[in-house]
Amino acid sequence: MTERVLAAGERILLVDSRDRRYLITLSTGKQFHSHSGTLDHDELIGAFEGTTVRSSKGARMLAFRPTLSDYILKMQRGAQVVYPKDLGLIIMYADIFPGAAVLEAGTGSGSLTLALSRAVGDAGLVISYELREDHHERGAANVREWYEGLGGKPENVDLRVGDVFEDIPESGVDRLVLDLPEPWRAVGRTTHSLAAGGIMCCYLPTVPQVQQTVEAMRRGGFGIVNTFEGLVRTWNIEGQSVRPDHRMVAHTGFIVTARKLAGLEDASIPDA
Ligand SMILES: C[S@@+](CC[C@H](N)C(=O)[O-])C[C@H]1O[C@@H](n2cnc3c(N)ncnc32)[C@H](O)[C@@H]1O
Repeated sequence: MTERVLAAGERILLVDSRDRRYLITLSTGKQFHSHSGTLDHDELIGAFEGTTVRSSKGARMLAFRPTLSDYILKMQRGAQVVYPKDLGLIIMYADIFPGAAVLEAGTGSGSLTLALSRAVGDAGLVISYELREDHHERGAANVREWYEGLGGKPENVDLRVGDVFEDIPESGVDRLVLDLPEPWRAVGRTTHSLAAGGIMCCYLPTVPQVQQTVEAMRRGGFGIVNTFEGLVRTWNIEGQSVRPDHRMVAHTGFIVTARKLAGLEDASIPDA
């Protein structure tokens, strides 16, 4: 691994002493303005990431290349994004592997698309359908901007405007990942695109949606249906004050995964 200095055109995360975070693109001669004063981009261009700089008011700021989580939390949103804590679970429990062919919907703001794209890697493909033109455009811009910030193009992402419940031509995909309101409608329709043994994964905010989805999966040729949610509690570690933070994101969504059976049997095998 070679250490690269920060260059003009790169996207940078600035973090102040109160953990306020700003995403900026470095540009020669430009200034960054915040409550903490101004900062010349030129001070960062040519420096290593992890550099500490001081604003015109003397405030200390750290500069890093953003992680994918940093970017997702800061990028512009059309639809509500899947948060990093859930992205991690989806990638692992839906078993998104390098080289996988993944069918996704809806693209929304592109948060899940980006996580899937990173997990399938150069040899994989993410085909993502989005019903709304405006959401498709927002998602496409976010995906493109993330890759442009890395100096590349989103080669393994194919974003389409369309209804994932209608006429999906793909077949034999390894994984079907749905973050939309009525995923049960995919069972027996979109699920024809999924290879036997493939995993269907749904992200759902409410219990009635989970119930309807799980019932449809069990009736519609899926086994090993697994439902869970992920709670992440951050901690405050300062002197004697070592305790959970007072606030947390308590509920985002439930994750349901299931495996497609080879035949359309009633999946009466106990779920995991
Ligand atoms: C909650 S958002 C998805 C957010 C996205 N996962 C992200 O992380 O940014 C749900 C999206 O599904 C889209 N949608 C709803 N029904 C759809 C369908 N039948 N086919 C394709 N997209 C659909 C909506 O327009 C909306 O943009």
